Amino acid sequence: MDSITVHGGSTLHGSIPVSGAKNSAIKLMAASILTDQPLLLTNMPRLADTKFLGRLLQQFGVSVTERDGDDGQETLFDAREITSTFAPYDLVRQMRASFNVLGPLLARTGHARVSLPGGCTIGARPVDLHIDALTRLGASIHLEEGYVSAVAPDGLRGAEIEFPFVSVGATEHTLMAATLAQGTTVLKRAAREPEIGDLARCLVMMGARIEGIDTDTLVIEGVTSLTGGSWSVIPDRIEMGSYVCAAAMAGGEVRLTRGRAGLIQSLTDRLVESGVEITPTGDGVIVKRDPAVRLRAVDVATEVYPGFATDLQAQFMALMTTAEGVSVIHENIFENRFMHAPELMRLGAEISVHAGEARVTGVERLKGAPVMATDLRASVSLVIAGLVAEGETSIGRVYHLDRGFERLEEKLGACGADIRRVKGPPVEGPGDDH
Ligand code: UD1
Repeated sequence: MDSITVHGGSTLHGSIPVSGAKNSAIKLMAASILTDQPLLLTNMPRLADTKFLGRLLQQFGVSVTERDGDDGQETLFDAREITSTFAPYDLVRQMRASFNVLGPLLARTGHARVSLPGGCTIGARPVDLHIDALTRLGASIHLEEGYVSAVAPDGLRGAEIEFPFVSVGATEHTLMAATLAQGTTVLKRAAREPEIGDLARCLVMMGARIEGIDTDTLVIEGVTSLTGGSWSVIPDRIEMGSYVCAAAMAGGEVRLTRGRAGLIQSLTDRLVESGVEITPTGDGVIVKRDPAVRLRAVDVATEVYPGFATDLQAQFMALMTTAEGVSVIHENIFENRFMHAPELMRLGAEISVHAGEARVTGVERLKGAPVMATDLRASVSLVIAGLVAEGETSIGRVYHLDRGFERLEEKLGACGADIRRVKGPPVEGPGDDH
């Protein structure tokens, strides 16, 4: 198992290219099942999660070819023939989002058997909304021995579905399935995350008929088949926001490129309040901060998009550990998403957690220590804290980090961070999913 070692104290200067969004890429990969024609995804991140889902798709008979294209890394998916519609527990438990192959398999072939994903460290994360929505589309679904068996021998039928609350995964899953349903589907209280817009636009490029993209009501007119084509994955706003927090923490001047400033507006608004200088550019932002001046504590509450992203909460908390004053952080999306707090406290942070609220009292300095990554986004918060902690911070279980951050130590190292990876024995599969 690899670990990452950071020596705190270096300011950051340089530029960091943002990769394609993991959370978009894995849904677009699932969408390749919907067509018998090749789908080329460009600006593809190479991550443990995308590799893993590629292997699952291969089990269904999809050919997956990774290559270098004009615009960086790309992957060609060819689902000409679906030879299996079975997704075993051993694979689905390793990456929750692989459950989202159920709808596309069902829409394309009329049947699928996919394992339920099980819980994860940040919360119970049920998939009841996904199952209810597919049932509303006319699928006959049985749960047995931990598996979802779904059939729709005469195809799916359009329906009006109002989600009881906003779910990113359930919106994407139902959207994909509805593209091939007979008739019209209306999705109300749909999530509006940019990755859903990316998926919907790619589906439109493939011939789907979708209205209301980027709003909370999606209207999908089913078509009988979709075509292939080429699609460039949207920039990863969570990766981008994480490096913005890293630059704000360490101080200096860092330019994020290949991104989009508007995607992280809810984060940059809070950072500006805190005293960070943010300048939007044509393809990202410039982050500037004088490390001699302490940031001010700012409160945040996680919300669905366009509110403050739960996937940036841990990184923001790391930043607040050395800000002046008390920052109150509310987590409204997941019930157990403060596991990074005790790890940050090992570095000297002062944090108290009660239910969905964390109070962070800024300290003047952090001190390096061995810490453990508990999940994907928590792991990068420990790197961010390590950038200013005196001495050495060594972060274990970085396989969490490899699920969502491409060449992290290289990208931060190029800006002057003293960070390196210490190689260890390989671990099996990616793990928890977000
Ligand atoms: C996605 C993202 C994740 C992000 C999250 C919220 C991916 C792979 N992951 O996760 O990074 O943190 O959106 O922005 O894209 N829920 C139910 N029943 C359901 C579905 C969800 O109760 O059937 C609950 C969840 O437990 C959670 C809340 O709804 O408390 C929101 O979850 P959801 O928006 O579905 O998140 P994911 O799609 O799992």
